[in-house]
Amino acid sequence: MPEAPWWHRTTVYQVYPRSFADSDGDGIGDLPGLLGRLDHIVALGVETVWVSPFFPSPQEDFGYDITDYTGVAPEYGTVADAQTLIDAAHARGLRVMFDLVLNHTSDQHPWFLRSKGSRSNPRSDWYIWADGRGRNGRRPPNNWRSNLEVTSAWQWSAERQQFYLASFLPFQPDLNYRNPAVKDAMFAAVRFWLDRGVDGFRLDMFGQIMKDPGLRDNPFRPHVDTGFPRGWRRVYTENTADVITFARELHAVCAEYGDRVLLGEVFGPPETLRGLHAEGAGLDLVFLFDFLVFRYDAAWFADTIRRFEEAFPPPMQPTYVIENHDRSRCIDRVGGDPAKAAVLAVILLTVRGVPTVYMGQEIGMSNTYVPLRQALDPIAARYFRRLPEVVNRRIPERLNRDEVRSPMQWDASGNAGFCPPDVRPWLPVNPDHTHVNVAAETGVAGSLLELYRTLLTTRRDSPALNSGTLELVSGLPADVLGFRRTDAASGEQCATFANLGRTAQTVRAVGSVAMAACGGAMAERGDLHLPPDAAIVVRRERVAYDTMDS
Ligand code: NOJ
Ligand code: MG
Repeated sequence: MPEAPWWHRTTVYQVYPRSFADSDGDGIGDLPGLLGRLDHIVALGVETVWVSPFFPSPQEDFGYDITDYTGVAPEYGTVADAQTLIDAAHARGLRVMFDLVLNHTSDQHPWFLRSKGSRSNPRSDWYIWADGRGRNGRRPPNNWRSNLEVTSAWQWSAERQQFYLASFLPFQPDLNYRNPAVKDAMFAAVRFWLDRGVDGFRLDMFGQIMKDPGLRDNPFRPHVDTGFPRGWRRVYTENTADVITFARELHAVCAEYGDRVLLGEVFGPPETLRGLHAEGAGLDLVFLFDFLVFRYDAAWFADTIRRFEEAFPPPMQPTYVIENHDRSRCIDRVGGDPAKAAVLAVILLTVRGVPTVYMGQEIGMSNTYVPLRQALDPIAARYFRRLPEVVNRRIPERLNRDEVRSPMQWDASGNAGFCPPDVRPWLPVNPDHTHVNVAAETGVAGSLLELYRTLLTTRRDSPALNSGTLELVSGLPADVLGFRRTDAASGEQCATFANLGRTAQTVRAVGSVAMAACGGAMAERGDLHLPPDAAIVVRRERVAYDTMDS
């Protein structure tokens, strides 16, 4: 059998560079800052670092609105800093992924400034333009909604007297990839970073990259998608067949360079996602966002894992995410309870597939409350501020994203070691940094950080955990989640048991030795003792495979 590609067994750590580490005292995280903290990532035991956008941008959406795909924004550093970062990461055995925002640019990108100038300039069809409807032509061309669903996806350009498509926010016009020149320009930017050694890309809003050329209306059918209520089925704007063709082309560009990875941000039911990820479909990995809206419940995790095991059987890899820069910190979903956050860590880091960890998750950072009236996040500032149910904070999914982008908490000093104490960081530091921080948790038995380190390094060294198959264990108490991981080649077998209930449980597992545990879980004389909110990862020793379960 050919050796599996590196990304089959990797673990990903997401850095939001603006909030990670500020090296020059301007209150904004930067690439040299990240470079200076690389050893934290190495010590954590993760294998790949994904860096959110740091390219030139008016920062209206903090980097997801780009004006130059082959540059570095001055507040983050220079292209030379990006090169140093790649090289330094490689020297430490880390892989590096950058963030590729293909779907849209900033409306300040020179391409768009030119495109909107007239209907007949060299860039006129680099974006998706259409005439309006109605007698005065001022009704949007069709019913397509922006991702937030509260407005049309079409924006009027007074200059060009036409509408342009902006699937996300109005200042992020969608590029027109049906124009081969656009594809060439973007693939040149992709090669620019591949030439510098980047190991792959996280692909922003990838499912939306190719829309119906006939601009047909999406059918109105209310449903819920990864926690969000939605009105329209996006059959003509998302996950169209042309997305797969595009993914193949992008994959071919990466293939010129060898073993590079494409990780898509895509939404939809498991079958659809599988279609994008299937052998030859172009995307090596696709994010599965269901864990972002988990219920702290053993049956919920068992069902979700089962669904994705069925949809993504080996050699496909499910890619689980429990936190990112857009959604609530996981500890806030479990009432701020670090014991429950620890159980979530054990599940995430021992399940089959590629886990991603968002900076600060490993120390139990929580949402940092920022009132909506002070929001910098353009979604919160422009839309959520006006929705009464959001103002009353009844919809946890619609949070001000500033709250999960507060500076990384390195130590207990002023500004948590993110920037000098006398500098004002771009977002407020969480007051809990006095006890929730890297320094305070380092070397402390039972801390969340040490649990993450143990889990990640254990996983890295264990073929069963990093590439084995997964089977859910049946016949367990209702509140206990259990799954077994087996590596056929070495015969190694491990298992995870997590008690998400309120009463202590015992599970029989003869011959098991603990590899990692939290919440006071213990292996003792053939029994696993699981207090409430406790979990254990065990390796099977001595005794035969089939006596593993209870
Ligand atoms: C998804 C990114 O994760 C989010 O932060 C960004 O605002 C949108 N895409 C638009 O690029
Ligand atoms: Mg700085």
